[in-house]
Amino acid sequence: MKPDLLRQHIRSAREATRFPVGVNVPLARGDAADLLDVALEEGIRIIFTSSGSPAQHTRRLKDAGCTVVHVIAAVKHALKAAESGCDAVVAEGFEAGGHNGIDEITTLALVPQIVDAVALPVLAAGGIADGRGMAAALALGAEAVQVGTRFAATVESSAHPTYKRLVAESADSGTVLTMRRLAPVRMLKTPFAVKAADAERRGAPREEMEALLGTKREMLGIFEGNVDEGMFEAGQSAGLVHDTPHAAEIVRRMMDGYYSTCERMAGTLA
Ligand SMILES: Cc1cc2nc3c(=O)[nH]c(=O)nc-3n(C[C@H](O)[C@H](O)[C@H](O)COP(=O)(O)O)c2cc1C
Repeated sequence: MKPDLLRQHIRSAREATRFPVGVNVPLARGDAADLLDVALEEGIRIIFTSSGSPAQHTRRLKDAGCTVVHVIAAVKHALKAAESGCDAVVAEGFEAGGHNGIDEITTLALVPQIVDAVALPVLAAGGIADGRGMAAALALGAEAVQVGTRFAATVESSAHPTYKRLVAESADSGTVLTMRRLAPVRMLKTPFAVKAADAERRGAPREEMEALLGTKREMLGIFEGNVDEGMFEAGQSAGLVHDTPHAAEIVRRMMDGYYSTCERMAGTLA
């Protein structure tokens, strides 16, 4: 999102809930500082930062009274986030939709290692789409979960109807991680994704991969529903998504599933 679109989305999110609203800003973006300015101007005080150094903006955000959470995919980055003064980290595993860490560490292996490495609260992400996944994440020591793909296929999501339909129709093997050498990204296996994966497999030159990665591929795919030219970022959890209900319904299902999983586990131990 460009700054103006972000402002629009913050306002509509505010109208849709009485709960606090947070904003995620990938720090590698050239306009990250402008996006953070918009969030602060709009009164946002929960900021999630990703893909970039947390040393860049954390101090300023903390001085403005924000809770700052940084997304990491390896222990060394969690340590850097702690050092930079972040309040918590999201440990995001290889299953996750969108941009991935280069070390390809799965959520199951990553979360407990991050819990052991830093004293900060850890939110688990990647592959969590229901109450069973949430219970598993909390069993690993996480205090909360961050869920992407499941919420991207809800009524409230601003994704294109084609994106939502393809996520809901996706099977367990419906995603691919590609662009490993430039910026690894997990997406649905659309015609564009197949083209990008083929180019990567035959060792296409860097310029060709850069052109494929492009700058507006996410917008073309997720917002415009263009399966030939756009990226449909989604995680392996797409195989657990079969419908596009309201976001509130997802929260209800997750909590019900979480409690019934805990009961089932307690029964197993008894
Ligand atoms: C369509 C889509 C767009 C995303 N965009 C971003 C983003 O801009 N910044 C970010 O930190 N994470 C982004 N993510 C990752 C999510 O925040 C979340 O960590 C991830 O989806 C969790 O894994 P899951 O997809 O299995 O739920 C995106 C995920 C999806 C599916």
